[in-house]
Amino acid sequence: MRLSSTTVLFLFCTFSTHFSLAHKEKHQTCRNVPGSAGYPKAVAWSKLNATIGGRLVNVVPTAKYCASLPSGACTDAQWTSALFRSMIPGSMTDNNWEQGYDLTPPSLCLRNATICGQGNVPIFSVEAQSAADIQAAVKFASCNNLRLIVKSSGHDVLGRSTAPYSLLIHTAGLQNILMTDEFFVGTRNMGPAVTIGSGVHTQTLYQETKANGKIVVAPTAATVCPAGGYVQGAGHSALSPLFGLAADNVLEFHIVVASGELLQVNSISHPDLFYALRGGGAGSWGVIFSATFRTFPTFDEAFSVIEIAASSNAAMGALAAVHAHHIFDLEPVRAGQYFYVFAGTPNTTALTLQLLTHIANTTAAQAAVLLAPFRNAALALPDVSLVAEEYVVQNVNDALFKADDAAGNDMVVGSRLIPASVLRERPDTVGKVYEQLLDAGALQCVRPTGLHITTCRNLNDPTGQVAANTDILSAVHPAWRTAKTHLLTGNFWTDQTPLAEIDVLRRNFQTTQLPIMEQLSGKNGAAYSNEADVNEPHFQTTFFGPNYAKLTRIKAKYDPDDLFIVAAGVGSERWDEWGLCIV
Ligand SMILES: Cc1cc2nc3c(=O)[nH]c(=O)nc-3n(C[C@H](O)[C@H](O)[C@H](O)COP(=O)(O)OP(=O)(O)OC[C@H]3O[C@@H](n4cnc5c(N)ncnc54)[C@H](O)[C@@H]3O)c2cc1C
Ligand SMILES: *[C@@H]1O[C@H](CO)[C@@H](O)[C@H](O)[C@H]1NC(C)=O
Ligand SMILES: *[C@@H]1O[C@H](CO)[C@@H](O)[C@H](O)[C@H]1NC(C)=O
Ligand SMILES: *[C@@H]1O[C@H](CO)[C@@H](O)[C@H](O)[C@H]1NC(C)=O
Ligand SMILES: *[C@@H]1O[C@H](CO)[C@@H](O)[C@H](O)[C@H]1NC(C)=O
Repeated sequence: MRLSSTTVLFLFCTFSTHFSLAHKEKHQTCRNVPGSAGYPKAVAWSKLNATIGGRLVNVVPTAKYCASLPSGACTDAQWTSALFRSMIPGSMTDNNWEQGYDLTPPSLCLRNATICGQGNVPIFSVEAQSAADIQAAVKFASCNNLRLIVKSSGHDVLGRSTAPYSLLIHTAGLQNILMTDEFFVGTRNMGPAVTIGSGVHTQTLYQETKANGKIVVAPTAATVCPAGGYVQGAGHSALSPLFGLAADNVLEFHIVVASGELLQVNSISHPDLFYALRGGGAGSWGVIFSATFRTFPTFDEAFSVIEIAASSNAAMGALAAVHAHHIFDLEPVRAGQYFYVFAGTPNTTALTLQLLTHIANTTAAQAAVLLAPFRNAALALPDVSLVAEEYVVQNVNDALFKADDAAGNDMVVGSRLIPASVLRERPDTVGKVYEQLLDAGALQCVRPTGLHITTCRNLNDPTGQVAANTDILSAVHPAWRTAKTHLLTGNFWTDQTPLAEIDVLRRNFQTTQLPIMEQLSGKNGAAYSNEADVNEPHFQTTFFGPNYAKLTRIKAKYDPDDLFIVAAGVGSERWDEWGLCIV
C-alpha cells in the first residue's frame, strides 16, 4: 500500500447531470437508495469497481456470510471472535448492530436462521487498499447522493460503522506501519513516532512497537483500530495516567475528506480539522487513511489481578465504596486500572469485582504494597471473599496485548465520566450507586458463550497526564481533564429476546441506569462518545460539551453536504436515525 499524494479527482460522476441534481435533492429529501431514480445503475457500479481494481464487494450480514461457508455455518469460536468478524465486510463485533430493528417491517438476520434480511448492513463495500480507492469511493458516493459509511474493525458500540442501503468504505486492508525516530511537523522534530494505516489492529501495533523497543497509547483490546474510531473519540488507555489520551498523542493524519481530496492534517496543516479529529467524534470528518502517534520507550510493568466476590448487592456496594476511598492511592505512581463488576456468569451466583492494575517500572512486591491498603480494607468487609490475587512483572506491550476480543453479542452500553471531586468527597455515594445499579437489574444477565460480562467498568485513568494536558487545543471534552473514572453499564439480549423487550433494553440506560448514575455525574454530566448510549438525547453537550459550536463550523467547512453522518455525531441532528433523510 502506498500513500498517494495526489489530490486530483480522477473519477468523475458517471452521469454528469446527476451531480447538481443530487446535490440539490439531498438538502430537500433523502439519499438515493435502491429503487430511487437517482440510484446508480449496474453499469455505474461496474465502472467504480473497475476503477478500484475489482475491490467492490457485495455485503451480507454475518449470519448470511456464515451460511455461505462450505460448512454451512460458523463455529461458536468464529461467531464470538472479533478477529474473525473484522475480516467480513458486513460484520459488526456486536451482532445487534447488523439488525434493522427499527426498519418497517423489522429486517433481521439471526444466527443459523433460514430467513435473512439485509437489516442495518450496507449493500456494497469498497475494500480499500489505497488512498486512491478511498477517493474513488468518496467521489462516487458524493456524485450519486449515496449514504456513505466508514468502518475499520466494526467494534463500534454505538453502531456507527454500519447503515442500511449504504456504500461502505472498509479500511481494514490499510495495514502499513512505519516507525521513525524523528517525526517532523513542518520543520519541528516531534521525536519518535509510528505511522499506522487505519486498518491496523491494536494487537499488531503492540507487537510492532515492542519489536522496536517502543510503546504507544492504545486500548486494551485486540482488534480496535487506533487510527480509526478510537483516536477520533479521545482514546483512553491503561497508559493514560502516564502519557495522556490517544488524541493527546496523535501528531498527524492523512484523511480523504468529502471533496475527495487527500489532506495532510497536523498542527500547522489544516489545524481546524486536526482539532476536530482529536475528540470531535468518530466517523464525522472523512476517511482516515493513516495516523501518526508519538511513541515512548517500552518498559516493564507490574500487572496485578485482584478478584473479590460479594454475596449481595449491598456487599458489592460496600466494596465499591472502599475502592472509591482508595482510588487515589495509586496516583503517585500513575497506575492505570480497570475496575469491573461481573454479575450472573453461569457458574457464579455471587457478584465479582475484578481489578486489573498496570504500574510502570515496579516490582511485584512493590505493587502488592501499593495495593494493600485497598485490598486489606476490602477484605475486612463482611460478605466478601478473595477469589484471586496475582502480581506479575511483564513487558508493557505484552501486558496490553490481547489475542482476540469477545464478539457476537447483542448489547448496548451507556456511560458517564465521573469527576475526581465526587470520588474524593462522596466515596460512599459511589458505593450506593453501584448497589442501586445492581438492584435495578441492569447487570443481571448471562452471556451465552459463558464469558464474563463487563457490567460496571471504572477506569481510573483520567489522572496524571490526562489532567495535565488541559493546554492541548483539541475537541476532547474538557470533562476528561477533571474526571477520575468512566462508569459504564451494558444491557444485553439474545436472539430469543422478543422485539418489544429489546426495545425496552435499548432504552434502559436512559430510563433506569442514567438517573442512578446522575447522583455522581450530575444532570449535565459528560460521556465518552466512543463508549456510550447512541440514544443520548443531548449528545451535543454530553459528548462534545462546549466544543460543539466550533465542531459544527469545521464540519460545514470540510463536509458541507453531510456526507459523513453517524448517529449522535456532529451534524446528525439534521438527519434521521439511519442518516438517510433530512428531518
Ligand atoms: C473490546 C473493546 C475494547 C475497547 N477498548 C477501548 C479502550 O481501551 N479505550 C478506548 O478509548 N476505547 C475502547 N473501546 C471503544 C473503541 O474506542 C470504539 O469502539 C471505537 O469506535 C473503535 O474504533 P474502530 O475504528 O476500531 O471501530 P469501527 O466500528 O470500525 O469504527 C468506529 C467509528 O469510527 C469510524 N471509523 C472507523 N474507521 C475509520 C476511518 N478509517 N476513518 C474515519 N472514520 C473511521 C466509523 O465510521 C465509526 O463511526 C473498546 C471497544 C471494544 C469493543
Ligand atoms: C468487482 O470486480 C471483481 C473482479 O473483477 C469481481 O470479482 C467482483 O464480483 C466485482 N464486484 C461486484 C460487486 O460486482
Ligand atoms: C449454529 O450452527 C452451528 C453449526 O451447526 C452450531 O454449532 C451452533 O450451536 C448453532 N447456533 C445456534 C444459536 O443455533
Ligand atoms: C522506566 O524506567 C526507565 C529506566 O529508569 C526510564 O527510562 C523510563 O522513563 C521509565 N518509564 C516510565 C513509564 O516510568
Ligand atoms: C464453569 O465450570 C466448568 C466446570 O468446572 C468450567 O469448565 C467452566 O470453565 C466454568 N465456566 C466459567 C465461565 O467459569
